[in-house]
Amino acid sequence: MAKVPTNMHIHPKIEPFFDAQTNTISYVVTDPASSSCAVIDSVMDINYAAGRITYEHADQIIAYIEKHKLQLEWLIETHVHADHLSAAPYIQSKLGGQIGIGDQITVVQETFGKVFNEGTEFQRDGSQFDRLFKDGDTYNIGGMTGVAMHTPGHTPACMVHVIGDAAFAGDTLFMPDGGSARADFPGGDAGALYDSIQKVLALPDDMRLFMCHDYGPGGRDIMWETTVATQKAENIHVGQGKSREEFVKFRETRDATLDVPKLILPSLQVNMRAGDVPKSEDGKPVLKVPVNAI
Ligand SMILES: [Fe+2]
Repeated sequence: MAKVPTNMHIHPKIEPFFDAQTNTISYVVTDPASSSCAVIDSVMDINYAAGRITYEHADQIIAYIEKHKLQLEWLIETHVHADHLSAAPYIQSKLGGQIGIGDQITVVQETFGKVFNEGTEFQRDGSQFDRLFKDGDTYNIGGMTGVAMHTPGHTPACMVHVIGDAAFAGDTLFMPDGGSARADFPGGDAGALYDSIQKVLALPDDMRLFMCHDYGPGGRDIMWETTVATQKAENIHVGQGKSREEFVKFRETRDATLDVPKLILPSLQVNMRAGDVPKSEDGKPVLKVPVNAI
């Protein structure tokens, strides 16, 4: 793609919301020149063993937006998450806004439609979302322009969103001491992830980078913000100009040792529907456990 247009002189106000159950960081990104905002990667709470869904995390985000009298314009999903459930429809029902994701969601829906043996009522055209972003697409948050950058590798539909002097890394990079995201889910590709990370590292050096996850490696406090320059210098998987070959070898070896995420089954079923819980024939919300399917 062409070089991403950046506006380093625009400094969106960024409020993080850490979810300790899934180590996810959600963000409210606010235009400093207006009251417009976007929510990136919200989390719906689930007690999977009990089949119970609640909204404590999303309610914190809603309370923040209401307290500051913000206008919610976008609910952005950086990708179809496999480790937490999106609360985008719940937040949208309270505050409005459009739900957006990468247009390669159709590939993810095709893959997991099969895994979950979905019927024809499950559309594989991305129509559950309000907006499907293509690589390089832009959108407005008040006076700010957001740019969606296609960054496949972790999943085919991953996007990094660049807004002013901030970029939301999704599951491409973790903090420098955490390295990078796994690339072994169906549709994942370690080489593609390396190429996508290079696109992120080609952003301006002093661009702020916000992570979607942090696990506090080595027992350090949870962190979520770094810069492109710091990632280039210090990232343990790609920093110091590590080669594609070296990265792919490392990533594939490492991924073979990783456990399946605890919430992968409910997460995929909900997130491939833009955050809606699937329904049984009698219209009741229900989640499936396909046996030996992933
Ligand atoms: Fe992910």
